[in-house]
Amino acid sequence: MKVLIDQEQINSRVINLGRELAKEYEGRPLTIIGVLSGSLVLMADLIRAIDVPHQVGMIQASSYRGKTTTPGLLEVNLDYLPDITGRNVLLVDDIFDTGKTMQTVLAQIGELKPRSLKSAVLLWKVEANEVDFTPDFHCFKIPDHFVVGYGLDYNNEYRHLPFIGYLEDADLA
Ligand code: IMP
Ligand code: MG
Repeated sequence: MKVLIDQEQINSRVINLGRELAKEYEGRPLTIIGVLSGSLVLMADLIRAIDVPHQVGMIQASSYRGKTTTPGLLEVNLDYLPDITGRNVLLVDDIFDTGKTMQTVLAQIGELKPRSLKSAVLLWKVEANEVDFTPDFHCFKIPDHFVVGYGLDYNNEYRHLPFIGYLEDADLA
């Protein structure tokens, strides 16, 4: 495991993003929706860094990946989505890789007609995108490595690591 982004870098960037978002949404009804499970660590830190009133909800998106990094079918569960009528929604995910997860989830939430809808991610793999939009807010742009930690998993392991690390092909094998 190699460290790509350490705990201190994450903390200070998340605090700054929180300030940016507080400015953006000041005086507007905000609902922050996290995508389980990858966004849960970011959500916990980010919502405490956004010093304007807001509501919080979680949804689930699971793409059935094989052993490594090939995306499969995406299943989205909106059962626990709070009422977003008239609210400005910020959708938060761990990583924007191909962008297809964000695209699918944004489309489904968009159908519920929030007042506005934007996206924020911890990591943005700029070389891997396969969609024609980009996240509205991000913490870090990263190269096309498979990363774990701070919510991100490999086969549901490593989410608890306080830093972002990457696994090399030999480790993945
Ligand atoms: P996308 O649909 O290709 O953008 O992939 C987004 C989802 O794939 C994320 O929510 C992650 O769960 C997962 N994912 C993509 N890249 C990585 C990675 O490098 N490490 C861990 N999970 C990843
Ligand atoms: Mg995920």
